[in-house]
Amino acid sequence: MASELDAVDWDGYYEAVAGREPRELVVGAAASFGEPGRAIDLGCGDGTETRYLLEDGWLVLAVDGQPSAIRRTIARAGALGDRLNTRVQGFEDLSELPEADLVVAPFTLPFCPPDAFEAMWAKVQASVAPGGRISANFFGPNDTWFGAPGMTFHARAEVEALFDGFEIESFVEEDEDGEAASGAKHWHVFTVQARRRPLRDS
Ligand SMILES: C[S@@+](CC[C@H](N)C(=O)[O-])C[C@H]1O[C@@H](n2cnc3c(N)ncnc32)[C@H](O)[C@@H]1O
Repeated sequence: MASELDAVDWDGYYEAVAGREPRELVVGAAASFGEPGRAIDLGCGDGTETRYLLEDGWLVLAVDGQPSAIRRTIARAGALGDRLNTRVQGFEDLSELPEADLVVAPFTLPFCPPDAFEAMWAKVQASVAPGGRISANFFGPNDTWFGAPGMTFHARAEVEALFDGFEIESFVEEDEDGEAASGAKHWHVFTVQARRRPLRDS
């Protein structure tokens, strides 16, 4: 299914952020585990977080709607690619995900169209093993991009409601002027790390 965001110059974005450090929401979430397991990197982009997780010993499924993102991610994985699986797939067409201990989605879920968000989120939640974690960003109503066609925004209470059945371990709201690869903008971003309740608390 075509997305209104197909017109975005994602390659220009990957070039603009080249050489960046892996995002803290991924580094921190990976560190929450005693040992590496199975991870899904949703909207893997240039592959920086996938590379980090592979180096940390994780098995990774990297998913992105852009073929060029997956090409870059495979290239970034290099010799670690034997622990990498990939999918070129839009969030609006997302098929069932394999079980994972960690699902990361840095700056990607807001690019899911609103009419596809609920079904996409159900698949994401279903993929998380008991005791596993999601670490993701959501955009709020004060964001400069609020109302952009094809994007999904959530108020704070709506973000909290997405994590029914999960224990929220970290919830950070930023509502401030800053920079994007495209220039100055106001960021209204929720960064959430949540753990799916284990079948039986030990
Ligand atoms: C802002 S980039 C973030 C990339 C990377 N996670 C990072 O932290 O820099 C958003 C990524 O989501 C992907 N994306 C955007 N809309 C998508 C959609 N509808 N389905 C799947 N991927 C999408 C883009 O191709 C892009 O790689």
